[in-house]
Parts: sequence; C-alpha cells; structure tokens
Amino acid sequence: MQGEGQSIGIPAAGEHENVSYNPTGGPGIHHWQEATITKAGLGERGNVFFAAIEMTRMPIVLTDPNLPDNPIVFANRAFQDLTGYQEDEVLGRNCRFLQGAHTDREAVAELRDAVSEHRAVSVELLNYKRDGTPFWNACFLAPVFDTDGKLLYFFASQLDVTRRRTSEQAFRQAQKMESIGQLTAGLAHDFNNLLQVVSGNLELALSRTDDESLRRPLENASRAAERGSKLTKQLLAFARKTRLEAKPTNLNNLIVEFGEMLENSVGPQVEVQLNLRPRVPAALVDPVHLEMAVLNVLINARDAMPKGGCVTIGTSKMHLNGNAAAHHLPPGDYVAHDQG
Ligand SMILES: Cc1cc2nc3c(=O)[nH]c(=O)nc-3n(C[C@H](O)[C@H](O)[C@H](O)COP(=O)(O)O)c2cc1C
Repeated sequence: MQGEGQSIGIPAAGEHENVSYNPTGGPGIHHWQEATITKAGLGERGNVFFAAIEMTRMPIVLTDPNLPDNPIVFANRAFQDLTGYQEDEVLGRNCRFLQGAHTDREAVAELRDAVSEHRAVSVELLNYKRDGTPFWNACFLAPVFDTDGKLLYFFASQLDVTRRRTSEQAFRQAQKMESIGQLTAGLAHDFNNLLQVVSGNLELALSRTDDESLRRPLENASRAAERGSKLTKQLLAFARKTRLEAKPTNLNNLIVEFGEMLENSVGPQVEVQLNLRPRVPAALVDPVHLEMAVLNVLINARDAMPKGGCVTIGTSKMHLNGNAAAHHLPPGDYVAHDQG
C-alpha cells in the first residue's frame, strides 16, 4: 500500500516473469504486477511522481482499455526517445503499430492473452522505430484497477535490449562454428588417414609396374588422392581457424618436424630448402594453423612452378618498432618465417 491507501499494489513476487530472461536482473519480487488506485484520470501532473515518470530513461506508456482498441493515452519522453515517434503520433493508437514483418506472432499472442485476461506479462519481441530500425523490446505490461475492481488502464514499460540479444546471438554463432570446426576436424583427420593408405598403396603399385596401360590409371588415381588430401588439409585449416590456440612454439622445430610432410606434398619436381636461423626464440602461434599456412603457401608455390623449382623456408628474429604499424602489429620482438 502506498500514499496512505491512495494506491495499492500486488507485488510481482517473481510470478509474471514467465520469460527465460529478466532484463532488470533477478526475478522481480517487489515491483507491482497489478495496481489499485483511488484517483482515476491523467490530469494530475503537478507532483514529483509525474516528474519522475517524465524524467526516467525507462520508456513508459499507459493505455485505456475502456476506449476502442485499447489506445495509448500517455507516453513518457523516454518512449519517444526509444521509438522516434512524437507524442501526438502515438496518442490514440494501439501499441501494435510498433510491430512489423519479423515480429514473432507467438510473442504478440502472449501479450494479447495477458491483456484479455487482465494480468501482467513480460515479453521480448521485435519492434520497429519510426525510421524502420528494428529493436528488441523487453515489454512489461500490467493492469491498473479502481477500488471496485474495474479495469482502468494498462501500464507498460519498454526496454531496448537489442545489444544484449545481438551479443547473445554472436555468442551462439561462435559456439556453432566451434562445433562445426570440431566435427570437420575429426572427419578431415580420419579421411586424410584413409587417403594416406590409398596413396601409399597406389605408390607401391606404381613402383612395381612398367606397364603403361596400368600406370596411367594408377597415376590418375594417385593425383586424385593427392587432391583429396589437399582438400582435407584445407578443411582442417578451416576447422582450426574457428578456434585459435596460440602457444609458445619453436618455429625451427615445427618446420623440421613437418618437413617430410612438406616434401611429400610438393612432390619430386620441387626442392624444399630450409634456411633456419639458430636459436630463434619461441613464437606465440597456433602450431596447427601455422603448419597449414606453410603447407598452403608451398602447394601454391608448387602449382606456380609446373616445371619444378626450389622453395626456401626460412626463419629469423625481428624487432619491430618504428615500422610496426606497416606490418599491422604492435611494436615488439617477432620471429619471422619466410617462404621464397
Ligand atoms: C500498455 C500496453 C503496452 C504495450 N506495448 C507494446 C509494445 O511496446 N510493443 C508491442 O509490440 N506491443 C505492445 N502491446 C501489445 C499490443 O498493444 C497488443 O495488445 C498486441 O499486439 C496483441 O493484440 P493484437 O493481436 O490485437 O494486435 C502493448 C499493450 C498494452 C496494453
């Protein structure tokens, strides 16, 4: 009870919070889910409570369910700020003018049911500003009665929760990418192992025959397996891209350990030379990602030299200071890895 009985409210006690997220923080306990007032009418605007309603940054409207189509009879300044409509453009209209093409009809039905049952509800739904910009509206509405229990008004507050919804969406998308990445990595890895067996056996068969009529199809199959292997590596690189795991890595060791794989990938036509500076410090990189990057550059180099040639992979230590910005990096010590 407030103002010596001028208005009475039923505390929400968490009851109307029927949606999964509550924009005001924990479940609403103390705020009212319905009110009973002793003075109807909107004329009294000289007290501090009216000033508070006009000053708050929370958009607020009142509608009159006793008029046809339950129109807005009051909208505060923050409601105008939120929606971009002027007061005279909203007074006399049902709030559904905020809805549009992508507004969830189920959310609208929740509002409709609550209005017809004279009860509070909080719903998040997509609304549109005057200029057409969509925004997520966390709308809470509740009934206001007179002392005889007659419905006088509906009160509603609207909160723009677009930023939260967008970051939640981005997070969900990132999680989805992560699972796709894991799945792809697993498949690509297993598939690559199978291709290795195929390639190995084809190589063996090739080494055991001089019969041209057999060699041609075997060579074709071998090339196809090699291409399949390249594709799986690209898949693996894609999968890894979705979650970079940087850790201190010795680039020289990485290149040496990966060397055989690199040589096999470019084939006998291309010579791979290493020019690794001793004692390069550990670099903070995702090793798998770097391996795939090296492999990719090498395969491109091979494709650019159909008659064969030489590729050099080198490492060196670099200090970036004045020239750091040109490399889009903050100043500091780096380990450079070159392929030429
Ligand atoms: C006080 C009050 C405020 C409302 N505010 C909004 C609002 O901000 N956005 C919205 O989409 N609907 C709002 N509504 C809901 C619509 O006015 C309407 O009740 C809803 O669209 C369901 O009715 P309909 O199916 O006749 O359109 C509000 C309703 C009331 C009573």
